[in-house]
Amino acid sequence: MSGKHSARRTPIRVLLGSATEGASVVVTGWVKTSRFSKNVSFVHVYDGSTPKTVQVVLTAEQAETHRADLGTGAAVRVEGTWVASPAAGQPFEVHATGITVVGACDPADYPLQKKATSMEFLRTVAHLRPRANTFQSVFRVRNALAANVHRFFQERGFLWIHTPILASADAEGAGELFSVTAGDAPEGFFGHPVYLTVSGQLEVESFAQAFCDVYTFGPTFRAENSNTARHASEFWMIEPELAFADLSDVLSLAEDFVRTVANGTMDALPDDFDFFDQRIEKGIVASIRDIVNKPFARITYTEAQEILAASGRSFQFPIGWGSSMQAEHERFLAEEHFKGPVFVTDYPVEQKAFYMRLNDDGRTVAASDLLVPRIGEIIGGSQREERLDVIRDQMARRGMGEAPLWWYLDLRRYGTTPHGGFGLGFERMLMWITGMQNIRDVLPFPRTPGSADF
Ligand code: 4AD
Ligand code: MG
Repeated sequence: MSGKHSARRTPIRVLLGSATEGASVVVTGWVKTSRFSKNVSFVHVYDGSTPKTVQVVLTAEQAETHRADLGTGAAVRVEGTWVASPAAGQPFEVHATGITVVGACDPADYPLQKKATSMEFLRTVAHLRPRANTFQSVFRVRNALAANVHRFFQERGFLWIHTPILASADAEGAGELFSVTAGDAPEGFFGHPVYLTVSGQLEVESFAQAFCDVYTFGPTFRAENSNTARHASEFWMIEPELAFADLSDVLSLAEDFVRTVANGTMDALPDDFDFFDQRIEKGIVASIRDIVNKPFARITYTEAQEILAASGRSFQFPIGWGSSMQAEHERFLAEEHFKGPVFVTDYPVEQKAFYMRLNDDGRTVAASDLLVPRIGEIIGGSQREERLDVIRDQMARRGMGEAPLWWYLDLRRYGTTPHGGFGLGFERMLMWITGMQNIRDVLPFPRTPGSADF
């Protein structure tokens, strides 16, 4: 059925790319707009394959028969001839030889009937908003970004590991867990507490210690009560892990990765990126291209604090060595000081997770966040603590029990290696390259505190 110009349907993207004058075509899709007049009537149809619509020219008789049913939103099937178009902005149009209204759409109460609809309103119709222009482009880009993520790793020989979604431990130790229970057997099903994973890192480490270069890419869940434009309760994370590697290897991988997938995704969908450039964030394509193709800055946390102190800015949250970096500090560094992506490394040990490698100074860890303009943190990564005695000490300092992580400690007992990796927030990357301002608008059905309605 997926033949290039099948009798079932040919995607509009394919027609625009390869159909020749006079070809018989079948177009299926939904009516974006229609215009009826005595002499000639048009229906503009989209099918999700491209931001472009196809103009269907109806005969007077077809227009007369279907006029009432061809309003915005109606599902249609059109058979016709591919003909050079006299209209500006489109090389071809379809002269319909037959048109079927597959599914009518009552204009009286169709929620997307109005032209100007706010993002907030569209969230209340998350089941219909994929049909709106912005979301058409967002979800095509989301798909292309995911494909580019896999291509990047597959071309470099990384194994994709399907780490579990039902997790037995709190990988980040931050306590932001959703508990999983089975019907009326709260903790009985597995015999111990089980949670939705906050990260696949710990499990993927065990595969790095067998295959060297691996990654996990899947949904993660956090019960943090942060109602911000950059936090979701369910989001996707990409987590590569390298054995026989130190922090600088991890940063090099992260930089290559961000550069390659940003460029690759923009290359794949030029028309959608034109839309973001013109309608969502003016100039975004040139600005992303420019900053991803330059080397990313690298500074330590200590240097970051010095820059913040020297900035003369008054921040809402405290600065100075030992204070935690807030979004306002991160955005100042990336947006105003470096005007591009910046890796901040070597954070105070107290601020970071138990598994990060303790530096020789005894007070910082080999961790790094990547900060970017407009978003702040998009990557968190580190070299891992591979020394058994040191990691046990780090767990004890945090009051963590060893029992649930016995297997993770085993990795330090049997053939341990220096290793490390990072986690990229998939939606934050998507927001960054499209200019979309709220994480709720790049997730198909967003889950945030107080909201999981669909
Ligand atoms: O910095 P985080 O917590 O790092 C980890 O989970 C590590 N296990 C990663 C690793 O080293 N393998 O999360 C990684 C990234 C963040 O930088 C951010 O982009 C994203 O995940 N993220 C969120 N995105 C949306 N909503 C949330 N609630 C997020 N929390 C983290
Ligand atoms: Mg982080």
